[in-house]
Amino acid sequence: MAATLEELAVSLADCRGCRLAEGRRHVVFGTGPAHARVMLIGEGPGQNEDEQGLPFVGRAGQLLDRMLDAVDLSRERNVYIANMVKCRPPQNRDPQPDETEACLGFLREQVRLIRPRIIVCLGRIAAQRLIDPNFKVTRQHGEFFDRNGTWMMGTLHPAALLRNPAQKPAAFEDWLALRQKILEVCPDVYADQPKEDVCR
Ligand code: URA
Repeated sequence: MAATLEELAVSLADCRGCRLAEGRRHVVFGTGPAHARVMLIGEGPGQNEDEQGLPFVGRAGQLLDRMLDAVDLSRERNVYIANMVKCRPPQNRDPQPDETEACLGFLREQVRLIRPRIIVCLGRIAAQRLIDPNFKVTRQHGEFFDRNGTWMMGTLHPAALLRNPAQKPAAFEDWLALRQKILEVCPDVYADQPKEDVCR
C-alpha cells in the first residue's frame, strides 16, 4: 500500500492493468490538495486530459471550474479531482465495467489517502459504481447518502450539461447543496476565505 499520493502515482505510471493502457499518452492520476475535504470523481480522461495528464481540462472542465468557483471552491485550494479510470477510453466512449473494476483499487487508494468528508460523483458511471448500482442521475442528483461517515452525492456530468444546457440550473442546485453540506460537516473548508466570498 502506498504511503502518499505521490507514491501511488508512481506505482500507476506504468500500469498495464487493462486495455486502456494501449492508447494512452498519459495516465491521468488526479489533481488537488492531498487532504482535500471534498473529492470529485468523473468518468475518465478525454483527449485534452490525455494530452495534458490532468483531469477536466477541456470544455467540460472549464464548466466544472466555473461551477466550483460559484460555490467558492477550486482544485487549487480545496477540492481533489480524479476519475473512475485513469486512461482515456478510445473515442471518448464510456469506460467498460471491466476497465472500471481494473482501476477501482487505485481510486480506493486515493480515497484512503485523501480521506475526503464528501465525495461528488460526476455523472452516472461514477454514481452507479460508487453510490448505488440503480442510481438514476435524473431523479437522484443532488441527494446526499451517508456511506460509512463519508457523504456522497451524484450530480449531472458537466459534459452532459454542455450537450443539454437546459439542465444547468438543476445542476447548479446540486452545487449549492454541496456548499450547504460543507458548511454542515466540514466548515473549515470555508473558514480561511473572506466572508464576502462565502456569502454571495
Ligand atoms: N470527463 C471526465 O469524466 N473526466 C475528465 O477528466 C474529463 C472529462
